[in-house]
Amino acid sequence: AATVHQRVADALSAALPEAVALGADPSPRSSSWGDPMLRRSDRADFQANGMLALAKKLGGNPRELAGRVVAALPETDEIAGIEVSGPGFLNITVSDAAIVRTLAARAADERLGVPYAERPGTTVIDYSQPNVAKEMHVGHLRSTVIGDAIVQILEHQGEKVVRRHHIGDWGTQFGMLIQYLVEHPHELDHASGEEAGGSGASGEAAMSRLNRLYKASRALFDSDEEFKARARDRVVLLQSGDQATLEMWRKIVGESMIYFHAVYDQLDVEIRDADVVGESAYNDDLQQVVKELEDSGVAVRSDGALCVFFDDVKGPDGKPVPLIVQKSNGGFGYAATDLAAIRDRVGKLGADTLLYVVDARQALHFKMVFETARRAGWLPEGAARQLAFGTVLGKDGKPFKTREGETVRLVDLLDEAVERATAVVREKAEQGGLGLTEEEIAERGAQVGIGAVKYADLSTSMSRDYVFDLDRMVSLNGDTSVYLQYAYARIQSILRKAGDARPAAHPEVELAPAERALGLHLDEFAETLAGVAETYEPHKLAAYLYQLASLYTTFYDQCPVIRAESDAVRENRLFLCDLTARTLRQGMALLGIRTPERL
Ligand code: ARG
Repeated sequence: AATVHQRVADALSAALPEAVALGADPSPRSSSWGDPMLRRSDRADFQANGMLALAKKLGGNPRELAGRVVAALPETDEIAGIEVSGPGFLNITVSDAAIVRTLAARAADERLGVPYAERPGTTVIDYSQPNVAKEMHVGHLRSTVIGDAIVQILEHQGEKVVRRHHIGDWGTQFGMLIQYLVEHPHELDHASGEEAGGSGASGEAAMSRLNRLYKASRALFDSDEEFKARARDRVVLLQSGDQATLEMWRKIVGESMIYFHAVYDQLDVEIRDADVVGESAYNDDLQQVVKELEDSGVAVRSDGALCVFFDDVKGPDGKPVPLIVQKSNGGFGYAATDLAAIRDRVGKLGADTLLYVVDARQALHFKMVFETARRAGWLPEGAARQLAFGTVLGKDGKPFKTREGETVRLVDLLDEAVERATAVVREKAEQGGLGLTEEEIAERGAQVGIGAVKYADLSTSMSRDYVFDLDRMVSLNGDTSVYLQYAYARIQSILRKAGDARPAAHPEVELAPAERALGLHLDEFAETLAGVAETYEPHKLAAYLYQLASLYTTFYDQCPVIRAESDAVRENRLFLCDLTARTLRQGMALLGIRTPERL
């Protein structure tokens, strides 16, 4: 096994049958004696408490059973000490050599010893789904950041991941915009000279053109009954695939894509055009969806609308609330598109897992959609799951709004984060005499600022709400990405200062307590990642990395590296530094966060 933890657990498991046979009369027959339940512990390096459950099952004394496990363990140079404690725990101390040898093997591997999943499958993940002609807001931040981290984590495990950005690019709201554009064909034209200043500027310009179009068409729609009627007719033309109408629609979508990409660039997230498969993409399937649901009786007509009912979904008045697949006027909505998407993802893309990174406030929608798809035979039981995230709150504890009560634009938030982070980087660089150029300060400011926003999001359990507090996010102390980035950069600086001394593992040197603690935590990396991939909980990776940086800080305070007492100790400490840095870097990359070499 690749970890000390797993090898000790394996040794205990192997000793269990003999321990049981020695004590029992008659000896019970079973091939599985359960899990020794080996965990990291404060008492020793590890504690195993599986003997309690096993003794209970066999009707024996747990302390005696634990004692017999100790006797049955073969001699090894890995376990330096083992004792029975309390009601029948085993406290286990491993040897320094076992730790260093294992870490050396991991360090020799490009993947840091992290194995691929044994049975990888195909996951289709629905995330970062902004709406065309609208600004991106904090909700889209969460969906993008969480989704991107999960994509990276799953792919790293060897899972085949298909990304789907189910953007809001269809629906009656486009009738008004398109009609206005048909009547004012130059409304979206680019003003000359406004494109100067990089992708951010052109993204902003695209959004402001869309805002202008929206405001103008809205004003007309609200004041002019005839325009309103023409806008409604335009929806019908859009749905029937009228060429001229589609052309205007494409113009609007294209404009939004310019804007989305500018935001993604700033967020440092890769979104590929081929993965942007919005609501409109399922148009041609909707009739078939309706037909199958109606033929099979999964959906029924109610007041002209095609509805699916659920025993456990009722409104406040006690009446059942249906999922509406088709409106009485024949129009399709959000639910129909999601049902068509499920058929496509399971049937054509071959997904065995469907994930939806979507706001928790859409939980009822997904519950009904999944259940409908299951009844229709399109979705195997349990194959789909909403990764429902909580709300971003302002400092007042209420959903994040501007002072005027409007939703906060994502770009404004990101700009502010980068600005704050740049100030922090500049101050630190001046204090430390790093001699960074303005360009370098700006680059690192962006990496630190965007990292801070992502980390604050990913380090809280996703179902929880969190307060958007930039002061806390860019703080150098505490559970922040900046703290982790500085830990990484500090290690790089030590490695540079070490000059000719190279990192090298020395299993023969005795480890200080802080080195053991750091080493044993490094040993848990692969297992942490496997758990995070299994439960879709990036915050556990963040917590692991934060603890790693904290343990490194303690190590650094207590164990001189460059001025170590001997060459072997120095090299071994440099080795621990290097592996810590590589682990931090890999872990942060999976969260979508950069680790600058100098900070
Ligand atoms: N566009 C929607 C919004 O901004 C989210 C779409 C979620 N995905 C889905 N398949 N329904 O709220």
